[in-house]
Amino acid sequence: MATVQIDLPEPTRERKRNLLDFADWSEAEVAALFDTADVMAQVLTRTIKKVPALQGFTVGTLFFEDSTRTRLSFERAARAQSADVISFAAGGSSLSKGESLKDTLRTIDQMQADVYVVRHPAAGVPYQLARWTDASIVNAGDGRRAHPTQALLDAFTFRNRFPGFDGFAGKRLVIVGDVVHSRVARSDVELWRLLGGEVVLCGPAPLLPPEVAPGVRHSHRLADAVEGAHAVMALRLQRERMTSGLLPSVAEYVARYQVTEEVLRMAHEDALVMHPGPMNRDVEIAGNVADGPRSVIEAQVASGVPIRMAVLYTLLVGKR
Ligand code: CP
Repeated sequence: MATVQIDLPEPTRERKRNLLDFADWSEAEVAALFDTADVMAQVLTRTIKKVPALQGFTVGTLFFEDSTRTRLSFERAARAQSADVISFAAGGSSLSKGESLKDTLRTIDQMQADVYVVRHPAAGVPYQLARWTDASIVNAGDGRRAHPTQALLDAFTFRNRFPGFDGFAGKRLVIVGDVVHSRVARSDVELWRLLGGEVVLCGPAPLLPPEVAPGVRHSHRLADAVEGAHAVMALRLQRERMTSGLLPSVAEYVARYQVTEEVLRMAHEDALVMHPGPMNRDVEIAGNVADGPRSVIEAQVASGVPIRMAVLYTLLVGKR
């Protein structure tokens, strides 16, 4: 009988890598990942928006908490590289029948995914899962702790908005709002500083505790914080994570911290307006600013696909 030669991709489990946060990433590695994302963005402009780069690999999306942007863009990123996708959502799973997280993962792991994209409401779960599986883990948001691919797409969007971009040094990002509950803010601070940029955090004191990012400038006055800023990022008031008594009222928050056209007049003349989403229009950001010429909110969402293509590619077959 004739033998059939099948070219299989190299096994990945022997050289597993994770993206949990940026603690073990260098500036050069992130720059290389951005360059890979540029190539992926080119792929997405073609008529046939698909390459065989991850053919034979399986990407598992494990979402224990709701998501629109992150989940859709990871699945799009996997399929655009010809990977297979298996999806797990906590609702409708056997977790509701008392199965432990570890047993659930061990069950899912029998499907032999090469990488799991994990979102969980409890901080630390993706780190724990990384100890329980040989597959790579991408943190897609854990509690208040980290959301590294959101930070990557934020910085990538910023970088690509300026022709001849000369680096993050001297570029100031102001993050306004509910910093205390925000994994996006923590990851943005971590990445922006790794890349050499400056971050200012702004909001009312209960939403801005100093331990969120030691060494980062804090401000309780939006006008002061925004002066000369190159990007202003509004954060959603995460009322589902608030216990009580953190804010006198939403109306008072809006009066002092909403990102408006008037506020933006104090920023750098080319300043960008950002929001990681989901957005509470006319709460943390005025509707006309969200839709205005400085807004890159939809560009952030669009950047999610090439950035996540680059992350999957880098972890599975690329070099960091
Ligand atoms: N920014 C973000 O993580 O959005 P989703 O919750 O919709 O994934």
